[in-house]
Amino acid sequence: MTTPDGFPQPTPRPLPAALAHAAGGPRYWLPQQQSAQPPTSTTAPSGFDVEAVRRDFPQLHREVNGRPLVWLDNGATTLKPRQVVEAVSEHYARETSNVHRGAHTLAKQATQVYEEGRQAAAELLGTRDEGEIVFVRGTTEAVNLVAQSWGRANLGVGDEILVSAAEHHSNLVPWQLIAAERRARIRPIPLLPDGRLDQDAYRDLLGSRTRLVALTHASNVLGTVPPVAEMTALAHRYGAKVLVDGAQAVSHFPVDVTELDADFYAFSGHKIFAPTGIGVLFGKRELLEAMPPWQGGGNMIDSVSFGETTYAPIPHRLEAGTGHIAGVAGLGAALRYLAGLDREAATAHEEQLTAYALGLLATVPGLQLIGDAPGRIGVLTFLLAGTDPMAVAGALDQQGIAVRAGHHCAQPALAAFGLQSAARASLALYNTVQDVDALVAALHEIQAAA
Ligand code: ALA
Repeated sequence: MTTPDGFPQPTPRPLPAALAHAAGGPRYWLPQQQSAQPPTSTTAPSGFDVEAVRRDFPQLHREVNGRPLVWLDNGATTLKPRQVVEAVSEHYARETSNVHRGAHTLAKQATQVYEEGRQAAAELLGTRDEGEIVFVRGTTEAVNLVAQSWGRANLGVGDEILVSAAEHHSNLVPWQLIAAERRARIRPIPLLPDGRLDQDAYRDLLGSRTRLVALTHASNVLGTVPPVAEMTALAHRYGAKVLVDGAQAVSHFPVDVTELDADFYAFSGHKIFAPTGIGVLFGKRELLEAMPPWQGGGNMIDSVSFGETTYAPIPHRLEAGTGHIAGVAGLGAALRYLAGLDREAATAHEEQLTAYALGLLATVPGLQLIGDAPGRIGVLTFLLAGTDPMAVAGALDQQGIAVRAGHHCAQPALAAFGLQSAARASLALYNTVQDVDALVAALHEIQAAA
């Protein structure tokens, strides 16, 4: 049985067939009940050749605990294609040099790689102005930068920062820190029972005291994708700025900061197939230019004397010290890799796989999914009745299936559902029906053994 778009019907599959994969059975896309023959093509109904992509990711071809790895912890970090591994290795093996300051060949090469990485990030986010791309360690540092620089300069007593209840701690705690310092106030935008943001409450919260709205572009717990463009337009009517946390969004669907009209947009490289320790803050030029430096040191100055120090133009003014040059080499490679894929087809593949997973998870006795917002990404947070989430993750790990369990660095989002902990399977473009089958078969086994 297939859905109208040719995707396997998300009805209970015979357990032995699903377990055949978990035990090292064939890994191909066609629904097992349709053909016993190996497929002639690995192209999914979306037109996305997932097996070709999987060949680029070495870690997908290793075993864990004697089983083929099923990586469903993409919300925590994504795996790296060999192109990224090679770019980082090439930098250290042959092109190690600092950037911007050197008069020699390798410094020029490193500078070129660094600025090409900036250009790739600008293209990913849909800005033509590379000055609007600031390299940071990751989303957390990006939000702290805005809070400490823009926030300190623009927040005063009684000003309000609206923060959605779906936020990762990294888009809440930096605001709490600066709010305490400036005697400003944090106001949560509440969640509806299905995991959407309550838009009526949001409209009521906006007012003349609102200075900033902190919004996720995709929740790392609920998978919710809020209507960021509409919410941003509303915030702008009150003169408030909007910072969007794109950490969970950028690898799942195309982003255009110009269309969103976001004032700030942050993401981490490691969640988009690039190395850890490198990330991007986008900021509108006029905002970044008006922001005071937040860290001082090399790279961010124009001239220094004991009498007066002047600063470099953006983005360098906000990038004190030597950056993560190898990380940028890897980021550039990851973004070029992604740009070389059919992103529309990749997004369609993920959407179809998410729908398939939701249907199949519903067959597991005692499984409760957290959040049910329409248009969610493939972040599937759940509870299994009678089993602690950490024990669920541990049992899955024994079968080579990696999921996260715990509070997911988003305690208010879980608290909104009366929870402190849950298990989470999170999908990426290289995941397959067989990965979902393996997860669901293992969950059935856990329940049967409980
Ligand atoms: N923010 C990452 C997650 O959701 C670490 O797992």
